[in-house]
Amino acid sequence: MYILFFFSFSFFRKCYCCVDRAPRSKGKATSRRPKNKKGKASLKDVDPEIFELIKEEEKRQRCGLELIASEVIDKLEVLCQERALKVFNLDPKEWAVNVQPYSGSTANFAAMNGLLNVGDRFMGLHLPDGGHLSHGFYRPEKAVNISAKYFTSLPYYIDPSTGYIDYDDLEKQALRFCPKLIIGGSSAYPRDWDYKRLREIADKTKAILLIDMAHFSGLVAAKIINNPFEFADVVTTTTHKSLRATRAALIFCRTKYAKDINYSVFPGTQGGPHNHAIAGIAVALREALAPEFTEYAKQIVLNCRTLANELKTMGHKIATGGTDTHLLLWDLRPHVMCLMGPKKNILKMPNETIILHKIMLTSNFFYDGLTGAKVEYVCDLTAITINKNTVHGDKSALNPGGVRVGTPALTSRGFKEEDFKVVAKLLDEVCQLSIAIQQEAGSTKHSDFTAIADKSEKVKDLKRRVEEFAEKFPIPGRILE
Ligand SMILES: *Cc1c(COP(=O)(O)O)cnc(C)c1O
Ligand SMILES: *[C@@H]1O[C@H](CO)[C@@H](O)[C@H](O)[C@H]1NC(C)=O
Ligand SMILES: *[C@@H]1O[C@H](CO)[C@@H](O)[C@H](O)[C@H]1NC(C)=O
Ligand SMILES: *[C@@H]1O[C@H](CO)[C@@H](O)[C@H](O)[C@H]1NC(C)=O
Repeated sequence: MYILFFFSFSFFRKCYCCVDRAPRSKGKATSRRPKNKKGKASLKDVDPEIFELIKEEEKRQRCGLELIASEVIDKLEVLCQERALKVFNLDPKEWAVNVQPYSGSTANFAAMNGLLNVGDRFMGLHLPDGGHLSHGFYRPEKAVNISAKYFTSLPYYIDPSTGYIDYDDLEKQALRFCPKLIIGGSSAYPRDWDYKRLREIADKTKAILLIDMAHFSGLVAAKIINNPFEFADVVTTTTHKSLRATRAALIFCRTKYAKDINYSVFPGTQGGPHNHAIAGIAVALREALAPEFTEYAKQIVLNCRTLANELKTMGHKIATGGTDTHLLLWDLRPHVMCLMGPKKNILKMPNETIILHKIMLTSNFFYDGLTGAKVEYVCDLTAITINKNTVHGDKSALNPGGVRVGTPALTSRGFKEEDFKVVAKLLDEVCQLSIAIQQEAGSTKHSDFTAIADKSEKVKDLKRRVEEFAEKFPIPGRILE
């Protein structure tokens, strides 16, 4: 019996497209890499406890008359809970965990519903500043997310000049707004969090502190970044990002909140548990307890730092100047180029070019920066998966000036620092190609850009080279026949 883990890390969701054959090539490039047995081994070897539980359930279904759900499921859930507490070093007297949430967004809503009354105030990091939709995102015309519809949310921000969270401003706003809940945690913030500071702010306004560690829970498990459990009341996480498990979520809470949160998950917002997902989480949590997982997590961060440094060496700008985690934000706005065309096309200028821009206003030229959407487009064409993303100081969230790049999925395939130096070169090539395409298009219109990119032989050549490089690395799981 196999449980397949597709670590569906969103940055890399398309990276499987080129892997249509079993990994090959015993050349020197691959021989030093660890044999990636994980995800290929039998469940019986990897996790005998879960294997026995599934066998037990199989026997019950096969040899009996099933008229109601079984207690094997409860054993599975208890084992998963025990492992979850162990992975994060939590004392069961102080912390409880609910392993039933179907996904991160529903986990957040269930936690909020358990802790707040309809209309209660809460604060979360602004979505364009790296926060998550489910942390209360709203626009003037509508509450974009259910969290902003049922509760009253106020965002806090990163400092537009540095890219770091502006804790001072958060404190000022919190004292004015008096939230009942403050949410920390992010989907696109490259730096570690100051949980102590958040706790102090929460205490001043008598707010509950919830940390959504969805993106970086694997790094917390490996103890290589700050530990939110030291200061938080509630911690939520998806299980399918750096924790490398099945697609689902967990809610940890101080025991005094356990009853309310439990009740909010079931029967409040969900029906029956997804047992297959719980089994998958349990297996991955066992993996997270092994020393190899710590190695993996350390390598993720090393790889990300290498990538950031390489890009910087090549003259690129990385938001906040680097990363503490598994992801970086690449600021593309400094890639400003001169285009020819009607003056009305002049777009928002990166600050550095304002003076030049004033000179050019008088001529038939205009300047435009490279955008996240354009680089994302060329990446898609060259078998590289990244996301366009806002970077600090962006005026428009719809046309962001950067991209978000993360290292967990490729680290699982055995990529080391040297390999990420190659990745950095490929990304630099994408950037140079994008600049050339934009120049050739001579306009800022996305469709002019994509038309040229689609036909570019250089883009096709780069795709071939990217695939050739990627295919040298093994991938966990089985290749579909
Ligand atoms: C991904 C993510 C979620 C949502 O997870 P889903 O399982 O896709 O619903 C919630 N919070 C944060 C911070 C995330 O990064
Ligand atoms: C809120 O955001 C989540 C993603 O986090 C999404 O799944 C959900 O549909 C959104 N709800 C609403 C009402 O916009
Ligand atoms: C919460 O629910 C889980 C099962 O979903 C159970 O194991 C746990 O004991 C419950 N805790 C409380 C405090 O109700
Ligand atoms: C933009 O440039 C002006 C001067 O032209 C400067 O005062 C300001 O601080 C700059 N803003 C940012 C975000 O760099």
